[in-house]
Amino acid sequence: MKRKGMRAGASIAGAVLAGVLSVMPVQARIAASEDGQIFRLDGGNVTYAFGVTKGGLLKSLYWGPKLAEADRLEAVSPRELSSVDPSSSIDTQEYPGWGGGLYTEPTLKLAYPDGVRDVVLRFVSYRIADDALLVEMADIARPIHVTLRYTIDPETGIVGRSATIRNDGKVPVRLDQASSAAWSLPVGDDYRLHYLTGRWASEWTLQERPVTAGSTVIESRRGSTSHQANPWFAVDRAGLSTEENGPVWFGALAWSGSWRISVDRDPIGDVRVVGGFNPFDFAYRLKPGAALETPIFYAGYSGQGMGGASRLLHRFELDKVLPGAPSPKPRPVLYNSWEATEFAVDEQGQMALAEKAAKIGVERFVMDDGWFGARNNDHAGLGDWTVNRTKFPNGLKPLIDKVHGLGMEFGLWVEPEMVNPDSDLYRKHPDWVIAMPGRPRTEQRNQLVLNLARPEVRDYVLKAVDDLVSRNDIQFLKWDHNRNWSEPGWLGVDPEDQQQLYVAYVRNLYWIIGELRKRHPKLEIESCSGGGGRVDLGIMGLTDQVWPSDNTDPYDRLTIQDGFTHAYAPGVMMAWVTDSPNWVNNRSTSLRYRFLSSMQGGLGVGANLNKWGDADFAEAARMIAAYKQVRQTVQRGDLYRLISPEDGSARSATFSVARDGKQAVLFAFLHSSTKIDVLPKIHLAGLDPARRYRVRAIDAVPSADDPVASGAYWMGVGIDVPMKGDFQAEGRVFEVVD
Ligand code: GLA
Repeated sequence: MKRKGMRAGASIAGAVLAGVLSVMPVQARIAASEDGQIFRLDGGNVTYAFGVTKGGLLKSLYWGPKLAEADRLEAVSPRELSSVDPSSSIDTQEYPGWGGGLYTEPTLKLAYPDGVRDVVLRFVSYRIADDALLVEMADIARPIHVTLRYTIDPETGIVGRSATIRNDGKVPVRLDQASSAAWSLPVGDDYRLHYLTGRWASEWTLQERPVTAGSTVIESRRGSTSHQANPWFAVDRAGLSTEENGPVWFGALAWSGSWRISVDRDPIGDVRVVGGFNPFDFAYRLKPGAALETPIFYAGYSGQGMGGASRLLHRFELDKVLPGAPSPKPRPVLYNSWEATEFAVDEQGQMALAEKAAKIGVERFVMDDGWFGARNNDHAGLGDWTVNRTKFPNGLKPLIDKVHGLGMEFGLWVEPEMVNPDSDLYRKHPDWVIAMPGRPRTEQRNQLVLNLARPEVRDYVLKAVDDLVSRNDIQFLKWDHNRNWSEPGWLGVDPEDQQQLYVAYVRNLYWIIGELRKRHPKLEIESCSGGGGRVDLGIMGLTDQVWPSDNTDPYDRLTIQDGFTHAYAPGVMMAWVTDSPNWVNNRSTSLRYRFLSSMQGGLGVGANLNKWGDADFAEAARMIAAYKQVRQTVQRGDLYRLISPEDGSARSATFSVARDGKQAVLFAFLHSSTKIDVLPKIHLAGLDPARRYRVRAIDAVPSADDPVASGAYWMGVGIDVPMKGDFQAEGRVFEVVD
């Protein structure tokens, strides 16, 4: 139903730390023009606008710094170039269907049983409900309807977009592509695309390339988010944008299945970003009356460079996405047994580690892989979620009681979506896996993927984990997912519906985790996928923290964490202090260096404590105590990447400023010393210039001799952080004095 008149539909009051320290009340406003032809969303420091052309196309109009309320956007006329350039292709559309002479990337592509594969969507109506703008579109001839949903976050200006495609006809329609949104940037030849790629133990590598004519595709065809590319992008402008200045448009998909984001510069020079379900191998049959909803594609704008963009995303994740938002619980310091014991876990060994972990201030003890079924290595046992009685003759209770008695929470590793062919579950239900009839079942890490799309598998997995958590006093699960899909078939289902797997699996995964959380409201969960293979805004809505990488080398972690924080908050980024030399690269580093590297996110310890001496325990206890003093700032504050470990200099540094501005923490690393380097001072950022801050070493007790100066001083003059040698690290705490 179309409502007339300019109206501020969803008026959401909120408050934001605009800039750095000043609290400025803002409003989110979603409004339509009198004639219902122009739509405008305002939130944070951002305006997003689109309109209806004379022909009924939905045309993108503006996305950038906030406009004045009285500003009128241009009347929407289709762009005319020549009679051979259809306006459908040269106008940037909000949600273009493939049809009617569209040559640019569509958001929707479909096929009818009679061979028609043309869809031309036209504006029908709009309404504003529940803080969202809903725009109805329909095909010019057939009963296919699309509802576009728009929201804007009042604090960060992050826009959320998704689409629901509905078949209101009498015959099925096959969707070959169903994206969440198309985002457009005005004509320009200086755009640069930033995105994140990687592989196992090497995730979160920041890539940069100019956005030239043509297309860049980042995607996962693997059934899950992937290590190889992450569903995040940022576009800035060469010459204008830096880490702390200039325009950056960015976005992230809330989806943990196969996905694709394409970034195109069309022949006119517009940049178009289209993202959502990966159309590769996508074929979703919509029966009459059925609908498909896409994941949400979130996107935002910052005028404060890449640093500003990531601070907006971090806030959005912490305040709007994570379980417990806007006040997700601080991450406890955890111990994890994996690197110490691998599969050789048993009651005595774990108890001994737990005693040592408790001594240094660990708050959560997590037993990793190896505790269940015939799991003595990675060849057997996955799927059989019963305690291994050889390793735990009396079940898990004695260990859990011991851990609780030591004042720690207890957590457990699980990988519920997987099965080893050598397991009781697989012997009983060989058809429960993702596979195609008569084709090999390609194994990775000796395992197959359970088909969560099947209701009986969904129920089995929920029950197995629910039983485990109900029968044992478990506060935390590390939820792993160690392989990608292959032969992605759904045994026993009509071949025409098999590819619904790509959607149904992920939706069921979300449902299972959501249901578990409902049944066990105190349970916390970590998303792990052979390291950082499943980190995205979808899984983040259901999990409290993520494991960015199996690579625990503290120097490698600096670049991993630098890439990670471009998209995701330090408050979810777990990092463990492990043994030296590190198994990844045989690099030796001091315990202090390992701690300071890991303290930039959620701190964990994964070292073999049986090998530690008294001095190690004393140092660890001191560093963990120091971490607890600053973790609120590190996990929830504003992150400034002062010197990137990727920019080639001998040093790198990060700086976190608490939201109330009262504390800030500097982590500085010297990668290697050559000759007699005189290191420049480090210039801080984000402090209140007018307030005075006292500075001390992160693990030192405050003293009257600690230097005191204004925020202006620390930012303008900078601070000396003396370091000499290879792999050196220092931490400084800034505390407001008055
Ligand atoms: C994955 C995880 C590791 C560990 C192992 C256990 O690789 O990323 O941290 O849990 O599985 O098999």
